[in-house]
Amino acid sequence: MAKRHQNQQGNLESLFLRMEELVLANSGEDEFEEVFKLLVAKLWDEQSQQSKFYRYSTDEATFEAIAKLMREAKKKWSGVLNEVTSKLTPEHLSICVEALSRHRISNESLDVIDSFFEFIVSKSVKGAKGQYFTPRHVIELCVRILKPSSGEKILDPACGSGGFLLHTLKFIKQHEKLDNEGEIQGFCSEKLWGFDIDAKATRVAKALMILAGDGSSNIIKLNSLLKPEMIGLFSNTGEPNLTIEDVCRSLIKRHKGFDVILTNPPFAGEIREASFLNCYKLANKKSRIERDVLFIERCLELLRPGGRLAIVLPHNKFAGKSFEFLRQWILRKARILAVIGLGRNTFMPHTHQKASILILKKKSFGKSIPSDYNIFFAITEKDGKNSKGQFVLHKSVARLENTWEDIDHDFSEVVEGFETFLKQENIDFE
Ligand SMILES: C[S@@+](CC[C@H](N)C(=O)[O-])C[C@H]1O[C@@H](n2cnc3c(N)ncnc32)[C@H](O)[C@@H]1O
Repeated sequence: MAKRHQNQQGNLESLFLRMEELVLANSGEDEFEEVFKLLVAKLWDEQSQQSKFYRYSTDEATFEAIAKLMREAKKKWSGVLNEVTSKLTPEHLSICVEALSRHRISNESLDVIDSFFEFIVSKSVKGAKGQYFTPRHVIELCVRILKPSSGEKILDPACGSGGFLLHTLKFIKQHEKLDNEGEIQGFCSEKLWGFDIDAKATRVAKALMILAGDGSSNIIKLNSLLKPEMIGLFSNTGEPNLTIEDVCRSLIKRHKGFDVILTNPPFAGEIREASFLNCYKLANKKSRIERDVLFIERCLELLRPGGRLAIVLPHNKFAGKSFEFLRQWILRKARILAVIGLGRNTFMPHTHQKASILILKKKSFGKSIPSDYNIFFAITEKDGKNSKGQFVLHKSVARLENTWEDIDHDFSEVVEGFETFLKQENIDFE
């Protein structure tokens, strides 16, 4: 018998709900922003081993000490905090500080702080625009299937909170015994790239990546669907129209495409702007198209020939009659290696929608794709969540500390099955 989620994150959630009850709900301020600033100050205090995050003898002294920690964190961890003054009154701030100071929030695996970030982000966006975090064991499954290495350039163009980047870094650290700070930073600053349109998500991603050992993470807020040929069309919006190509051109030497892309684009949303539709082959003569379809085309464009992709997509892209054009297009551009069906609870509580992971290798220059070949199909039977979207843990696990190890899922069997398939088919995957 497996049991339900019960852990340190649960303690942090109750703490947040208590702070909300005491202060946040009546403060009139953005709860996410105020809690995020406090968390960053607390993380900075823990990481820099200062022990200055506590309630002082007066509320004003507490306010000043926390503001100082926020200022230091902003200076040291660029791009994480926008502003460094709490908008809470000194009295309200002191109540939150006192509650938070009783907890240590950074731990080795980062899973606790990661799931707490998920909790506060999901409270603030309420699943809007498909902005939920990808479940971490699904991410880990994709990473274990693609097996990225430190010599490869890795991208998530819809990185959200940075889950794929974080787990890629963890995987590489573990498999290549990368534990030297300089090596880790070098790898992150040259090889690991994340883009997302949402400012809140990118700040969370930066915070997590910094904690994972990357002081200068390449996580950038931009619209990944924008292409260089579209620039100029948006000159009146006031937004800087940076494309992924602009970033690559200025920051990556001799860039010829990414070796690996791992991503979960939003399941929801349609694109109707002619400027986008005209620049995507898959939108040919259509008046609107689902956003994830454009993401598939964009990912294949951003991959180098022979590069590998793992993309989490809603089930209709694999089975719906109206997406046959998409499947035919993919078959011409890449060799499909695997389709892994996920259970209905996997994305709960955010959506009931069934999803699958598509694994493919982009066509290489001068090489044709066989007209008939085998594809690895798998359907997971234990998705590690119950119908409410709570994690189901192994019986022997008291608290969730490591999502892959502690959650009761059958994804390891999928990874083993895929490895056997690659050997049987003699596929050169990496
Ligand atoms: C399902 S979430 C990805 C979650 C992410 N894997 C994580 O673990 O947090 C989809 C993400 O796509 C982002 N997104 C949507 N449209 C985008 C666009 N045009 N360019 C870049 N990011 C976009 C959303 O802001 C959201 O963070």
